Amino acid sequence: MIHTNNEKNRFILETETTAYALSITELGNVAHGYWGKRLNRIEDYPQVGEPARLNQETNYNVLAHEYAGWSQGLYLEPSLKCSFQDHTRDVVLKFAEYQIKENALILTLRDAAFGLAVDLIYRPWENYDLIERKVVLRNESDFSIQLQQVLSARFTLPTCERYQLTQLVGKWGGETQLSQTELSIGKHIWESRRGITSHFANPFFALGRQNPSETHGDVWFGLLAFSGNWKSVVEANIHGQVFVSMGINDFDFSWKLEPHSSFETPRVIAGFSAEGYGRMSRMLHRFQRETILPESTRQSCRPVLYNSWEATEFHVNEPDQCKLAEKAASLGIELFVIDDGWFGARNHDRAGLGDWHVNPEKFPRGLGPLIQKVQSLGMKFGIWVEPEMVNPDSDLFRAHPDWVYHFPKRTATLYRNQLALNVCRPDVQKYIIGFMTKLLSENAIDFVKWDMNRSFSEPGWPEIEPARQQEIWIRHAQSIYEIFKTLRGRFPNVSFESCASGGGRVDLGTFEVSDQVWTSDNTDPYDRLFIQEGFSYPYCARAMMAWVTDSPNFANERRSSLRYRFHSSMMGSLGVGGNLPKWSDDEMNEARQWITAYKQYRHIVANGDLYRLASPRQSPLSAVQYVSPDKKESLLFTFLHSARRTQIVPRIYPRGLQSESLYKIQAIHDTRQLLDLNPNEPLSGAALMARGFRVALTGDFDSALWLVDKAG
Ligand code: GLA
Repeated sequence: MIHTNNEKNRFILETETTAYALSITELGNVAHGYWGKRLNRIEDYPQVGEPARLNQETNYNVLAHEYAGWSQGLYLEPSLKCSFQDHTRDVVLKFAEYQIKENALILTLRDAAFGLAVDLIYRPWENYDLIERKVVLRNESDFSIQLQQVLSARFTLPTCERYQLTQLVGKWGGETQLSQTELSIGKHIWESRRGITSHFANPFFALGRQNPSETHGDVWFGLLAFSGNWKSVVEANIHGQVFVSMGINDFDFSWKLEPHSSFETPRVIAGFSAEGYGRMSRMLHRFQRETILPESTRQSCRPVLYNSWEATEFHVNEPDQCKLAEKAASLGIELFVIDDGWFGARNHDRAGLGDWHVNPEKFPRGLGPLIQKVQSLGMKFGIWVEPEMVNPDSDLFRAHPDWVYHFPKRTATLYRNQLALNVCRPDVQKYIIGFMTKLLSENAIDFVKWDMNRSFSEPGWPEIEPARQQEIWIRHAQSIYEIFKTLRGRFPNVSFESCASGGGRVDLGTFEVSDQVWTSDNTDPYDRLFIQEGFSYPYCARAMMAWVTDSPNFANERRSSLRYRFHSSMMGSLGVGGNLPKWSDDEMNEARQWITAYKQYRHIVANGDLYRLASPRQSPLSAVQYVSPDKKESLLFTFLHSARRTQIVPRIYPRGLQSESLYKIQAIHDTRQLLDLNPNEPLSGAALMARGFRVALTGDFDSALWLVDKAG
């Protein structure tokens, strides 16, 4: 619901349990009023005016701007900074008008001197308890405007509080690691300047008041839907104010806004949870499952896939892949994916990238026979591509050396022996759509793993006018979205996995165009517990692809049981990536059993509510529970890192069950029992949640999977 008062100078957005209020001040600034629990009466929300002056500070600096133009010497992070035709670099935004359209509040601010209109767009997602924000700039003048910084939103949190800042940080092979620190005074920036979302930081923030936990405390959070350069800024000052700004990164950014044209920022999905981080995650997960991920994915669980990468790397060929396919099919795999190496002169990572024709030595009869084999085994067929990239040693690069980002007098830096194609160029975009259309039309391909294996460097686009050259950081991502949308439109039955050397492109923008993401190249099941925990803070399990691979793991030589590996991977969308011909009969039988169980219960993981019961960061025992939307069934994953005789292993308290209903718990494919519970005696949800129990895990890297379902 969107409310306004009689004077039309106060606006309130209400969702099921939260509210967000803002006011127009007497000087025409848009000031933040309130964000938190929904209140009983409209009059309960504050009306905010111009602030009282603080010593040595302009009012403009103190005001809780909803969107701050760089003006009047703003010393805080500006939301908007630009240069007008006479080189004035000062934006004076004043409220002009508002409208409520398609359940969105649009506040239009104008810079009267230069004909720039700024629409602040707010959409309450009532049933999801979330608020969406974005901005559209409209150049209403006859002159171009050079944009230098355009963020999506600025948020204000209650003043004079202590906050815990939650971020996702990481690296290749160790993405989405949770970082939680007390918010100190100062400016905290995390960002990507790499051209993609990045492994190192993710465009997500959460700020919890006092000491929030999984179940308790007030948490404000936001997620930016963008896969190019982005920036998150939290400013906490000595006055006790806390501002959060999010949007595209202003570093090396510039955008020429032509006369009578517009620029739309990516959106931020933000919210408030009065029940800690757990509820925050469940709100975001449900929103992603039901409104963000492509529609085809919303209706079904992801197929169990097999991927050839760890088994064969670049050494793919028809007979070997057919053998792998037979093995995979015998396990109950539903989708067989051939990874890198099937095209051009791609025998290693130094050549062939860009030459998207089937390698005649590896597949003398083309891909057809392999695809037919896969289909005859009852599986779908998927293929790996990396369309945005090229090896210098490729026919594509030899034909179009100017298609990569470059500065003419500089040597291009190679990463993984490859260069990034300038996908902003219409001819490059056309080429990618062209070869992908050919590949998908000529072959019965059901699934594409779309990879992207390097950050940008020497980001030049010398062929266009200088005023546009720094648009690449944004245009690349926009162009990729367009390509995905075009391909999805042409091939509605093909699904896509987004990958960037693992989790380098995990964000809501990517979720909008791909059915799942490759979480990390690190497939070690214990390391994955940490990666997956961080991932689960903002992102839903359905989109999280997780493979079971060989032991010892290539990433760290750790040995772990097949059971432990399956349990770790079954917490997301399950895949297998091991060298199956080397698996023993016992291992194959066990894998078959886990895949069968996964298929039986995956709807609980894919559609259910996720509860983090115990974190691997905090205790030797970790536990994650998924509860089906009707609360009839629940899966509980428990992992023991290592046992010490003197150590007390914490009790597990399940959550999300119906208090009055009776439930029974049983281990799936396991004879182990829970301690403190009689397996033959169903217990009420209330009792289970209040009494808790201990799980009988022993030794190192032990795990068990439990089904909690309604008795009778
Ligand atoms: C990246 C991906 C891997 C694999 C290789 C192939 O590293 O993350 O899964 O596809 O590329 O070169």
